[in-house]
Amino acid sequence: MSNKSLVSITDYSKEDILRILNLTKKFDENPNRRLLEGKVCATLFFEPSTRTRLSFETAVNRLGGRIIGFTDAATTSSSKGETLKDTILMVNNYADIIIMRHHLEGAARYASEVSSVPIINAGDGANQHPTQTMLDIYSIYKTQGTLENLTITMVGDLKYGRTVHSLIIGMSHFNPTFHFVAPEELRVPDTYKKFCDERGIKYEEHINFSPDVINKTDILYMTRVQRERFTDLMEYEKVKNVYILKKSMLDGSKDNLRVLHPLPRVNEIDQDVDDSPKAYYFEQAKNGMFTREAVICDALNIHID
Ligand code: CP
Repeated sequence: MSNKSLVSITDYSKEDILRILNLTKKFDENPNRRLLEGKVCATLFFEPSTRTRLSFETAVNRLGGRIIGFTDAATTSSSKGETLKDTILMVNNYADIIIMRHHLEGAARYASEVSSVPIINAGDGANQHPTQTMLDIYSIYKTQGTLENLTITMVGDLKYGRTVHSLIIGMSHFNPTFHFVAPEELRVPDTYKKFCDERGIKYEEHINFSPDVINKTDILYMTRVQRERFTDLMEYEKVKNVYILKKSMLDGSKDNLRVLHPLPRVNEIDQDVDDSPKAYYFEQAKNGMFTREAVICDALNIHID
């Protein structure tokens, strides 16, 4: 790679992850530092987003940088047939870094190969969402005080959920035990099970979202069924409400259990969970701003001290 792009969580070693976490902690202590003065950051969102785009843009604003970009590709010349390559080459003329979300798996990798400035993948299809992983790992560290030897239960759409795929890889450095809870149609892809097998990472698959699983869990990672990835909406209808976490289901859980969700949620976490001290998903989203400040500075080789 010709620049310091972040396309997949596999671009980060364990040492990189720990370094970014350390940097994130500093931004958590003080998010307002004028480290991006004179820099222009482009946010190219070919797919909808609330928190990823807004937390990236808030991160840039808090660091004194400027933002250009779009939130709807229909308003850009890609709607006239301009290729992704030409779009990236144009934005290279204007911006110091590109933050991009695209519906096609591999789009961020391709962009990083043609771009002269770093590309940060803000989600490519059902593939990867590495900055979400970094904020998830930071949230896990902040709530558990360690990343090592944790039991992580992932629930819902483990087939299309890109945050799940990235988190399996990101946490693989820290000897986790995974429980994958999904209906048959949405099981975690074989490639991620093979990844775990090759590294001796323990995992179990479950169809039932049972108290037995919840009660041995440190991190309960709920996910939304990804309606936009289904080609047959009848298939979506069959599985859309397959698991719904209710507050009473946490009654026998460990004191340190925290419920995470990349958000947005639809029905998979009942509103009654929100006032549980174990609900952490809104703080998790806030951590995204600090994490993205760290990722941007790291990609641009900007040091805090
Ligand atoms: N978690 C996440 O990617 O949220 P948005 O789709 O709102 O950016």
